[in-house]
Amino acid sequence: MASFWLLGLLMLSDGFLSSCLASREDVACCGQDAVLATTVPVRHQYADLGWPEVVLSCPALKATSHVEWRMNGTSAAGWTEAREGDHLVLLNASLADDGEYTCHDAATGQILQKIHLKLGYPPDKPVVQCRSISYAAINCSWCLETETHLATSFISTYRHGLEGEAYECPQSVPMANVCSITNLQLFSTDPYMLNVTAINPLGTATTLSFIFLDQIIKPDPPEDVKVSPINKERKKLLLTWKPPGSWLLPEYFPLKYSIKYSVDGSNNSKRVDNRGNILHPDRHPSWSNLPRPSGR
Ligand SMILES: *[C@@H]1O[C@H](CO)[C@@H](O)[C@H](O)[C@H]1NC(C)=O
Ligand SMILES: *[C@@H]1O[C@H](CO)[C@@H](O)[C@H](O)[C@H]1NC(C)=O
Ligand SMILES: *[C@@H]1O[C@H](CO)[C@@H](O)[C@H](O)[C@H]1NC(C)=O
Ligand SMILES: *[C@@H]1O[C@H](CO)[C@@H](O)[C@H](O)[C@H]1NC(C)=O
Ligand SMILES: *[C@@H]1O[C@H](CO)[C@@H](O)[C@H](O)[C@H]1NC(C)=O
Repeated sequence: MASFWLLGLLMLSDGFLSSCLASREDVACCGQDAVLATTVPVRHQYADLGWPEVVLSCPALKATSHVEWRMNGTSAAGWTEAREGDHLVLLNASLADDGEYTCHDAATGQILQKIHLKLGYPPDKPVVQCRSISYAAINCSWCLETETHLATSFISTYRHGLEGEAYECPQSVPMANVCSITNLQLFSTDPYMLNVTAINPLGTATTLSFIFLDQIIKPDPPEDVKVSPINKERKKLLLTWKPPGSWLLPEYFPLKYSIKYSVDGSNNSKRVDNRGNILHPDRHPSWSNLPRPSGR
């Protein structure tokens, strides 16, 4: 397992992704790096903190010459044993091993390779939450449960239904890890499928969320709540209310209501979920507290 991943790491660091990241960072880098970059190859290497060993490699040398490794400009004594040929092997590397590694020709001190090593974790699946207060938009936010210690970006896209075209879910606030789906299709019962993909140099992880608009909408409270007696039904009361005025199209999108009431003399309140407009408690309730209707 470990050797498989190490192999993967080396391929990654020598491959396209690495040169891509390197060239992007070089632009913002300090003057010293820019000068060295013209003469010494710089490699950006990323490694998983969970790996038992991290291998740094130096370009091939003449068999006769020796290699000396330095980290942030100084050599460390313990490294001699860990060295295998031209490679430097870090065992149980931690965040303290982040830094700039250079391998030198031991005879001349010439720098042969410069490696920026950064340790971290691949992203885990983003934990996504969505909500909506009206039909205008679905707002979704997400986070990662484990700190990656690496720059991690997110791609958010959605489709309506399972087969529809994928659109960007725009992240209007940079770095806030939120996006908004607008232009909702009101008359469809198909879910929206949100794809939030986290990306960093060690990997990607995707969470697909099925969003049913009627399940995440949190409407305003109902209005016009009334309790009245029912003729000839002395043990029952009639409770009526209207959907909130802000709720568009209640006939197409009926609301569910949660009703809480407590019977006189008891501190226990009861919760009733009811789709309709009439509540018939079967025991004699005196409505010591008026029911407090609330949005879901
Ligand atoms: C690395 O960690 C493993 C497991 O925690 C441990 O058995 C091993 O002794 C450690 N090696 C070094 C060099 O610290
Ligand atoms: C090495 O340099 C890097 C970047 O300047 C720094 O973040 C890190 O703490 C340094 N590590 C050590 C052990 O000096
Ligand atoms: C949803 O997101 C939009 C755009 O970012 C914002 O204007 C709006 O206030 C958000 N609504 C809620 C309920 O968070
Ligand atoms: C989710 O989004 C990522 C990044 O855009 C993409 O590579 C992946 O194929 C998408 N997955 C699905 C199931 O749509
Ligand atoms: C209801 O709660 C109050 C205060 O918490 C307490 O004094 C009273 O005895 C309780 N009544 C019953 C019937 O449990």
